[in-house]
Amino acid sequence: MTAASAGAVVTGAGRGLGRLIAAELAGRGHRVLVTDVDADAARATADELGPQVSWAAVDVRDETQVAAARDRIVREAGRLDVWVNNAGVLATGPAWDQSADVRRLMVEVNALGTVNGTVAAIEAMRRSTDAGGGTGGTGDTGDTGDTDGTGGTGDTDGTGDTGDTGDTGDTGDTGGTGGHIVNVVSLAGLTPVPGEAVYAASKHAALGFSLSTLADLRLAGIRNIRISCVCPDGIWTPMLHDKLDDPGSALSFSGRLLRPEEVVDAVRQVLDRPRPVTAVPRGRGLQVRLAAALPSLGLRALPLAVARGRRVQRRMLARRSAPGRRPNR
Ligand SMILES: NC(=O)c1ccc[n+]([C@@H]2O[C@H](COP(=O)([O-])OP(=O)(O)OC[C@H]3O[C@@H](n4cnc5c(N)ncnc54)[C@H](O)[C@@H]3O)[C@@H](O)[C@H]2O)c1
Repeated sequence: MTAASAGAVVTGAGRGLGRLIAAELAGRGHRVLVTDVDADAARATADELGPQVSWAAVDVRDETQVAAARDRIVREAGRLDVWVNNAGVLATGPAWDQSADVRRLMVEVNALGTVNGTVAAIEAMRRSTDAGGGTGGTGDTGDTGDTDGTGGTGDTDGTGDTGDTGDTGDTGDTGGTGGHIVNVVSLAGLTPVPGEAVYAASKHAALGFSLSTLADLRLAGIRNIRISCVCPDGIWTPMLHDKLDDPGSALSFSGRLLRPEEVVDAVRQVLDRPRPVTAVPRGRGLQVRLAAALPSLGLRALPLAVARGRRVQRRMLARRSAPGRRPNR
């Protein structure tokens, strides 16, 4: 760990994109706290990534658990540098066919979870090192570090951008340590998504909250806390692995299905140069923004995109069924 790279937290890092982002942060020299609602998955990721990586079971819907993770990384690393709100859930189908519990789950994990993580991180990043770093400072919730009580100390696109106006290189003037919050949103945060309406609503909320909070920070004169939102198209992670025969998720397959490593590349770029919004891939970001800006036209084009996504799903399903074939496109 260097003075320039201290503590980092990733939510939903037990698998998929979050696991790779945690690996990227560990590779950059951060002391990383891998968190996930799935304790076994969080532990496995941390074990795999090495001794500078610890883990905790954290349900992002619970602000107390989130704050405890925040306090723990500050104790372990002396300072919180990077917080990645990555945890997410996707259930497909028209909202009227979903149970109230499923709708609530998506809104709470994807939107409220992002709010909880962002607020917790800002609290630590506004503290000075003396006040909070490593000593169980004044804002500390007093947690012992392990939210599941199991004793798991962890041992152990520019075109999609809203325009980054001087969000790099500031030292800030608040006296706090500052830091960078990276929120994994989705193209579903920028455009309508038939079949994923509640998911899209939760991601629009995550994006709106993130950008509004960034504006609030700047209005408050706080320039050393950055917020970057990464908005990828469909990614071939466990979130989509069981959805090849699910018509509700067709739009996730209608563009160029991304490898998770491509999204980690985008995260690496914003870590080096914070940007309010980065769409992945860039061209697709432009396309969905245009569709969102012209809703009547955009809504007319959506059936074509759904049809294309269905064709891709069927092709991938056929490949998966063929002996010895992997279901890539
Ligand atoms: N896969 C895609 O097509 C895609 C596209 C755009 C954006 N995203 C977003 O990327 C992020 C990562 O998704 P992924 O594709 O790796 O999916 P994934 O399902 O593989 O991983 C999601 C992780 O979040 C965890 N999680 C779920 N509920 C949680 C909770 N309440 N508290 C803490 N952790 C919880 C899961 O246990 C899992 O480890 C999500 O925010 C997702 O919405 C995914």
